[in-house]
This record gives sequence, C-alpha cells and structure tokens, in this order.
Amino acid sequence: MTERLEKLEKEISAELKGAAGKQDVLGIKTKYLGRKGEFASLIKDLANLPPPDRRQAGEAINRVKKKAEQEIAKLLEGFQDEEKKQRLTREKLDVTLPGRRERLGRTHPITQVLDEVIDISTGLGFEIAEGPEVELDYYNFEALNIPKDHPARDMQDTFYIAPDVCLRTHTSPVQIRVMEKHPPPVRIIAPGTVYRRDSDLTHTPMFHQVEGFMVDEGINFGHLKGVLTHFLKRLFGEDRDIRFRPSFFPFTEPSAEVDIQCVICRGSGCRVCKESGWLEILGCGMIHPEVFRFVNYDAEKFTGFAFGLGIERIAMLKFGIDDIRLFFENDVRFLEQF
Ligand code: FA5
Repeated sequence: MTERLEKLEKEISAELKGAAGKQDVLGIKTKYLGRKGEFASLIKDLANLPPPDRRQAGEAINRVKKKAEQEIAKLLEGFQDEEKKQRLTREKLDVTLPGRRERLGRTHPITQVLDEVIDISTGLGFEIAEGPEVELDYYNFEALNIPKDHPARDMQDTFYIAPDVCLRTHTSPVQIRVMEKHPPPVRIIAPGTVYRRDSDLTHTPMFHQVEGFMVDEGINFGHLKGVLTHFLKRLFGEDRDIRFRPSFFPFTEPSAEVDIQCVICRGSGCRVCKESGWLEILGCGMIHPEVFRFVNYDAEKFTGFAFGLGIERIAMLKFGIDDIRLFFENDVRFLEQF
C-alpha cells in the first residue's frame, strides 16, 4: 500500500506539472479525486488489509489526497486569475467616452396641427366624431347629393375597392353618419385620413381633413363666417389675410372656399400658390336641404353649415413648407425640426 501511495503521489505531481490549462487540471482532478478515481479505489482496498494496519494506511492515504486537493485548488485559482486578467485587458472601459444618447421621438407635424385644430374646435363646443376610411359609395357620394354618374364625382378622383365601396375621398360622409343617428341640434368635428388619386407639390394620395358642421334652428352663413374666421385667426394669428370665395359643392348651398395668404411668398406669387398669392385651405357652405332629406331632418325648421379643411395645407402654411410630400417621406432630419 505504501509503495502504491508513493507512486500515486509522484504521478499526480508529474501530471499537474505538465498541465497546460484549466481543462487539463480538471481532468486530473476527476481521474484521481473523482468518485471512481484512484483514491476511491485505494480507500476501498483498505478493507483487504489486516485490521491493525488499516488506520495507518488510511491516514497516509488522506495525507496524500489532501496534498493533491490543495495543489489542484491552487492551480485552478491561478488559471481563474489569469482568465480575469485577460478579460480585463480585452474589455477596456473608457470612462471619458461620451454617453449614448436616447433618441426621443416627437409628435409628427401633421398630428401637431390636427391636435391644435381639435383643441380650438372643442373649445368652441364642437364634439368629436369618427367614421370609417373604407366607405360605402352611398355615404361618400350619394347621400351628399352626388348621384352616380354625376359630373361632380370628377372633383374627387376616387380609389374604388368594389363597385359600391371606396376609400373615402373626404370626411363629409361623417356628416351623414352622425345626422342619421342624432336629431338636431348637432355640433361636430370629424378628423380623419382621406384618399384621392392626386399627387403634386400640394396634393398627396393620402391626406387628412377635419370636417366641422353645426345644425340647429336659425343657423346662417354669418355663423359659418364667424366660426371659421375665429378658427383661422387662432391658427394663423390675427394679421394673416383670409378670403371667402364663392364655390360649388353638391352638398352645400351656397358654397365657398376659404383661401389664406401664401406664407411662402406672402402674397406676391410663387410656385406653391401657383403665382396667385393665395392657398386654398378649406371648403364650406350651408348644408344642402337635399342632404337633410337623406337623413330625415326637417329642412323647413333646421339649417346648418359645414366645412372641411385640409390639415397638410394648414401645416404647410404654419411651418412654411413648400412641398407637401415631405410630410410622408419620414426623413428624420425633416421631422426633427418640429
Ligand atoms: C372637400 O373635400 C369637401 N368635402 C369640403 C367641404 C366640407 C365643403 C363641408 C363643404 C362642406 P375639397 O375637395 O376642396 O373639399 O378638399 C378640402 C380641402 O382638402 C382642400 O381645401 C385642401 O386643403 C385639402 N385637399 C384636397 N385634396 C388634397 C390632396 N390631394 N392632398 C392634400 N390636401 C388636399
């Protein structure tokens, strides 16, 4: 037994000396100290010795085992320190580097203007209503006094989805949907996305409108002018010129369009206002009695006005932007400015 133990001690020492890394040492550990290792078999063999020799042999085994355990632990510790040192030299921390800034998002300029328009309107007592973007031909045209095959349909180049279903070309169908459900008086604004086959410096195929309308006894054009003038002065400031120009919409009579002095050229004429000095921002008028017939309102008793304004136009004017398409290109350098 003594001889076996001495041989084992030398063997372990030699193997540990030759160990090149942590893995080698762990292998040696299992080989000698593991459950089925050399020391386990030595301890098992103690039973074959005569009882008086067992104690001494046992002590000798323990001494050699302990020594091996200590050597292995020391080596493993050394390797661990070495690994840590290497990691620290690899991963250098430069505390003088500037921090990484979180890029905060912000409200899109169109949403900003939409929020402002909603804010002014609700301040005037208008309530908000919504309608579907995929709309029935009936609501988008027919009930607004634009029968099938009527030339007025050409005013709004339409994306059709099925023969009687289209992407709404304006927010006016919300008038019909609201009036069908609510008897007068009503005072509503309806913001939303609308679609037309249109694309140039001042037109995009997808844009936003806010519809506003009010129906009660005794409402006249003066109310319409008063509300819109207040509204536009709040949006653009007191010193901005606006004008009401006679126009035509099948769902209003009389009808008008409202123009605002071009902010790009201040009225002298440029490519944005097509040299006119004015930019059209909304359509309006007194709701046509024929529309009231579609929603079973008594046209003898009630009158009302309606208007529909383009949010992008307002945003262009407010921020002095000469190409409407910039709003939808999602160029962060552009959007960051608002
Ligand atoms: C209408 O859409 C009517 N529904 C407005 C209305 C409502 C009249 C209630 C009477 C009573 P119009 O097609 O003119 O009208 O469009 C209204 C506004 O939307 C325009 O003044 C313009 O500012 C904006 N607009 C129209 N087409 C586009 C487009 N392709 N891109 C961006 N803005 C547009």
